Amino acid sequence: MAFDLVFFGGTGDLTWRKLMPALFQAFRHGKLPDGGRILAVARDEMSDERYRDWLKERFQEVDGPKRPNDDEFQRFASLVHYRRMDLSQPEHYQRLKEWLAERHADTVVLYLATSPHLFTQICEQLGAAGLNEPRVRVVLEKPLGHDLASAQQINRVVRSVFSESQAFRIDHYLGKPSVQNLMALRFGNALFEPLWRRESIANIQITLAESLGVGTRGPFYDGTGALRDMIQNHALQLLTMIAMEPPSSADADAIRDEKLKVLRSLKPFTPESVGRDVVRGQYRAGAVDGKAVIGYLDEAKIPQDSHCETFVALRTEVQNWRWAGVPFYLRTGKRLAARDAQIVVNFRPVPHPIFPGSSQPNRLVIKLQPEDGLELQLLASKGGHGEMLSPVSLDLDFDRTFGSQRVGAYERLLLDAIAGRLNLFVRSDEQEQAWRWVEPILDAWKHDSAGPRHYNAGSWGPAAASALVARDGFSWAEEQ
Ligand code: BG6
Repeated sequence: MAFDLVFFGGTGDLTWRKLMPALFQAFRHGKLPDGGRILAVARDEMSDERYRDWLKERFQEVDGPKRPNDDEFQRFASLVHYRRMDLSQPEHYQRLKEWLAERHADTVVLYLATSPHLFTQICEQLGAAGLNEPRVRVVLEKPLGHDLASAQQINRVVRSVFSESQAFRIDHYLGKPSVQNLMALRFGNALFEPLWRRESIANIQITLAESLGVGTRGPFYDGTGALRDMIQNHALQLLTMIAMEPPSSADADAIRDEKLKVLRSLKPFTPESVGRDVVRGQYRAGAVDGKAVIGYLDEAKIPQDSHCETFVALRTEVQNWRWAGVPFYLRTGKRLAARDAQIVVNFRPVPHPIFPGSSQPNRLVIKLQPEDGLELQLLASKGGHGEMLSPVSLDLDFDRTFGSQRVGAYERLLLDAIAGRLNLFVRSDEQEQAWRWVEPILDAWKHDSAGPRHYNAGSWGPAAASALVARDGFSWAEEQ
């Protein structure tokens, strides 16, 4: 299947750090369909050759084993082309059209890896140039908007040019093998389903912790914050997968309909509940992995009076029969103690303990990164004298089990976009509903002059985040 893949923002960070390396991996794994052409477009004037040289240099910064050798790079680079494009100029879209018309590829994927404020302009111009025929797909990188109104505005324009089945909204977490495994765990096994409800589960914790700071992304991050950057999309997508009802099939819309129902069932925030159930934080100087690091306000290009949150912890509920009353805690932050993304399902204790020793309830830990695995914590008798119960765990490491068959998130999502598979992309109504749910938090913060609480880099966030969970009689997994 011949395809043309165009990256708008062809010299941007996302393109060279994530997208091109992911395509290279697909190429190396022999998964890139034959007869493909890759076109990068950006503002600078450059020949194909210069762009390839530039890309080769950038590839030196890619992780060791993923870095191509010269021969591999040459073969991959022969698929890569470059054109200068001013995104405000209609004639430049005509030139793009001519380039695409040089041959009639079965599929054209237009990947908008630009700043999101350009999305509407690009889509309108694509429509005006007739670059929206059915073989064309448009991929929209997050963040899609900065609140409900702006997301709706982008979606309105996208819908006026493309059909929903042509629009691929990326949330790269959905492409992670560990996240796909969540669906396999829940709907490929009969074991958990009878327990997957309020009668057996005490609470669920979703943690997306990063040890990195904002680095060079200061200006972008300061206008965004952790709520928009991680909770509105990645954390809520994980929550939907944990809480959704079994879909009738693996069809994209069957899955997305169920995810949407979860988003619609989330307990809405009020100004009072934001104060009670949401904790925002900002990191101060501290030490991560034994190395001293600066605080957020000292990072490059951050205003001294910034109230931008680099940490959020919140408590919510899914208001339906399956989950009524079960707290869902979501937490994310930069400069935390470790890079650690996991979902912890805490089961209820046995109704009547008869053995001495530990009475720690069962727990299922779904590890998303850095490890990709599953740990089921049980109690067992050591079999010595007495009947003392001790915690033991069944531990499964998917990287070890499946080895090299696991593919990276962007590799998977790019191949899916080329193949037209929408399952792992976000539908506009899901995305708008997620904005609708976070918006009262953003509004309440606008009126809260106190700003975020401080936490030391290298910690697990402000103490208030522990208090949030302790109030219900629980604690975060690392505190137990
Ligand atoms: C991105 C955020 O969506 O996800 C970043 O914009 C964040 O701030 C990143 O660092 C985390 O992704 P991953 O795959 O490294 O967990």
